[in-house]
Amino acid sequence: MRTQVGIVGAGPAGLFLSHLLKQRGIESVILESRSRAHVEARVRAGVLEAGTIDTLNALGLGERMMREGMVDDGLDMRFRGRNIHLDLPGLTGRSVRIYGQLEVVKDLIAARLAAGDPILFEAEATHLDDLTVTRPSIHFRHDGKNKILDCDVIAGCDGFHGVCRASAPEGVIQTYTRNYDFAWLGVLAKAPPIADMTYTNHDRGFALCSRRSSSISRLYLQVPAEDDHANWSDARFWDELHTRMFDENRSEIQEGEIFQRDLAVLRSYIASPMQYGRLYLAGDAVHIVPPAGAKGLNMAVADVRIMARAIAAFYETGSSDALDRYTHDCIDRVWRTIRFSVYLTDLLHRFDEHSPFQRGMQMAELDYIAQSEAAQRLIAEQYVMLSDVRD
Ligand code: FAD
Ligand code: DHB
Repeated sequence: MRTQVGIVGAGPAGLFLSHLLKQRGIESVILESRSRAHVEARVRAGVLEAGTIDTLNALGLGERMMREGMVDDGLDMRFRGRNIHLDLPGLTGRSVRIYGQLEVVKDLIAARLAAGDPILFEAEATHLDDLTVTRPSIHFRHDGKNKILDCDVIAGCDGFHGVCRASAPEGVIQTYTRNYDFAWLGVLAKAPPIADMTYTNHDRGFALCSRRSSSISRLYLQVPAEDDHANWSDARFWDELHTRMFDENRSEIQEGEIFQRDLAVLRSYIASPMQYGRLYLAGDAVHIVPPAGAKGLNMAVADVRIMARAIAAFYETGSSDALDRYTHDCIDRVWRTIRFSVYLTDLLHRFDEHSPFQRGMQMAELDYIAQSEAAQRLIAEQYVMLSDVRD
């Protein structure tokens, strides 16, 4: 099998890339290890920054997002019973949109298949070959057989646990990591959401109230990394959420049936360079952000916008200059985005190792943000448009 660009992974990075390439007349094949049903059922991100919204619209695929997604104008942060309200359009002129990652993924898959372009599901890349020559290849298993996809360029969009990043020889790619000893327990509940996206830093830990529609809430609690969602009955979850959101009299947060639960460990991770030979990495395959700040999907889209542009320049000019600069063109934005996500994580979570002094510093910072429009603008600006990429 042969194509121009071999894409490993049908998450947001791989799917967006395939459409951006198609728009520029470049063909690709996507290999995805899981089934279509599995990929379309993975509940994860929900917040789309302006750059991601614009990209989906420019591809002509944003119709359902614009119709069903919800504009989010406010971001709240609570601490010690106080509330900071960030008016996103007032502070930045822009807002974000809530539209589940799995809906984006469904839209991108449907459009690609409708156009007759290939996504091979249940096709697991096993290893990559000839990365430093002009015709690299992807070895994969599909329909019980070993197969090979020859290409000009390989896009490693296979997430944190994929095979692409590990295909570069040892020592070529440096990694920078910070692990956390807590996780986010996420649920979907049939309950009307509260007014604004709301983070809280309570003595018992972080919580977040988000939403997926006017009748579905997306809710998160900070829990120990080794916790299990089976430990959380509905009643225990709601009790804890009311407490952490300073809603002890239960007048604000509406309860409803919890119909989905997941546990995500938190990690900050950057691999650099984001390329080796003819392999270019994007999204979670090359960096992971802790989810406070809602950046992972948006970063993945920003990466593949730059990658698609560089691949197009390669075919138009025959020169690999833009591809050679891929890491250079991404990496400062990646560090900036990780920095913001780490900052919000540090600001909003309960750290067992914190001394009373460090806890006092966290509260003092929140108190300062509550009083300073400049501090509010700094957060709002990064929340709304950190993944902007100039075309
Ligand atoms: P993935 O979505 O992980 O896709 C990689 C794909 O590659 C997968 O489909 C996988 O099956 C496939 N694959 C892996 N190995 C192979 C192989 N060997 N062969 C073939 N295929 C393979 N981000 C935001 O921007 N906003 C948010 O609000 C937000 N909230 C989040 C909340 C939670 C609880 C979590 C866990 C994450 C959140 N994120 C958020 C992060 C976001 O979901 C990820 O950053 C995003 O999924 C990255 O997309 P990706 O395409 O790089 O990787
Ligand atoms: C979601 C919202 C956020 O603001 C965030 O930081 C992470 C996830 C969500 O709606 O899933």
